[in-house]
Amino acid sequence: MSAMQKLMGWVDDRFPLTATYKAHLSEYYAPKNFNFWYFFGSLALLVLVLQIVTGIFLTMNYKPDSELAFASVEYIMRDVDWGWLIRYMHSTGASMFFVVVYLHMFRGLMYGSYRKPRELIWIFGVLIYLMLMAEAFLGYLLPWGQMSYWGAQVIVNLFAAVPFIGEDLSIWIRGDYVISDATLNRFFAFHVIALPLVLIALVAVHLVALHEVGSNNPDGVEIKKKKDANGIPLDGIPFHPYYTVKDIVGVIVFLMVFSAIVFFAPTMGGYFLEANNFIPADPLKTPPHIAPLWYFTPFYAILRAVPPMFGSQFPGVVAMGLSIVLLFFLPWLDRSKVKSIRYRGPIYKIALALFIVSFVGLGYLGLLPATPIATLFAQVFSVIYFLFFLLMPWYTSIDKTKPEPERVTG
Ligand code: HEM
Repeated sequence: MSAMQKLMGWVDDRFPLTATYKAHLSEYYAPKNFNFWYFFGSLALLVLVLQIVTGIFLTMNYKPDSELAFASVEYIMRDVDWGWLIRYMHSTGASMFFVVVYLHMFRGLMYGSYRKPRELIWIFGVLIYLMLMAEAFLGYLLPWGQMSYWGAQVIVNLFAAVPFIGEDLSIWIRGDYVISDATLNRFFAFHVIALPLVLIALVAVHLVALHEVGSNNPDGVEIKKKKDANGIPLDGIPFHPYYTVKDIVGVIVFLMVFSAIVFFAPTMGGYFLEANNFIPADPLKTPPHIAPLWYFTPFYAILRAVPPMFGSQFPGVVAMGLSIVLLFFLPWLDRSKVKSIRYRGPIYKIALALFIVSFVGLGYLGLLPATPIATLFAQVFSVIYFLFFLLMPWYTSIDKTKPEPERVTG
């Protein structure tokens, strides 16, 4: 027995290292027909790690103090060795996180990955998405620029629209009557430790649930239904080495895109970093046009599409909340006999296409000032967004589906 084998034996007697490696990598069988859309889970994991590592290094020089925060970020950009790289990786990482997660969620919609038995994977996913939005919102206050300040002011003021307790609630969140040093301190605490811990825990349970039931695939066929004499799914291949190698290809392509942005277009023309945020926060001067970063704008557009009632923005706030809450119910709203879009009928395909057009359209409109014509379009898109969910039990049950194959199709 080699020294290495002896060492492994010693560890395995005390910790299930080999057993875990086998159960989750070398003897974890994933469907053999994964395609492009299956890159984004591992890429999301990569971005999570990038954000945590770059975040730790930013924290070493960032000052969570309203008098010092803005200058400390400029110090990181100009004076700290490689500080500009760390900061641009973190700011680009935030936007790329949403790019990757939106594509990952879209894959789920296309292949019905939220359907039985994967409801919990999906629910943990939606919780991750909510946490990610909170994490991005809190982080955006930290550079203490004009957009940090006024963006936070607008969003926290939304809580003031809640009947009866709203005013107290918004003061409780801010820790002051306006966004101030107290707000910055608590946002920092939540951004650097509380929410990352929750996010990591959610990602862990997301993956535990995934490995319990196994991955779905582009055919929506359950590979565990057809096993060989050794109990190995006929359409499964070991995750390691097949998918570890395939995922590395995705990682390399992703890092090329990521580096191109970091090195050549870190602001992405104002979409990843807004010009107004290079101006220090001024509580006495409201910027003429306040828009959130692109990944929030679909929901911002829904908020603005709903007219105020008795002078209160509350109905818009409810619509915005509902637009996310509905995602949780997706597994039970979909009544189709098949999972994958490959075997669905025309109605679902049209519904999904309309939904995507509306979501992207809302995202675009949320960036613009609310002119009457923009508001009208936002209202139409919002109605389509909600109907996609609310009518789903009906249109998925009448849709003419094709028969699902017995085995995956290559
Ligand atoms: C930090 C964010 C996230 C990470 C690190 C993550 C990670 C992963 C990984 C590694 C997989 C397996 C590989 C793959 O199928 O691509 C996966 C599968 C899955 N994820 Fe996520 N995920 C995240 C967010 C989300 C969100 C926001 C949703 C939905 C709201 C979601 C829903 C799903 C579903 C339904 C599957 C199973 C897909 C299938 O088997 O077809 N995930 N996730």
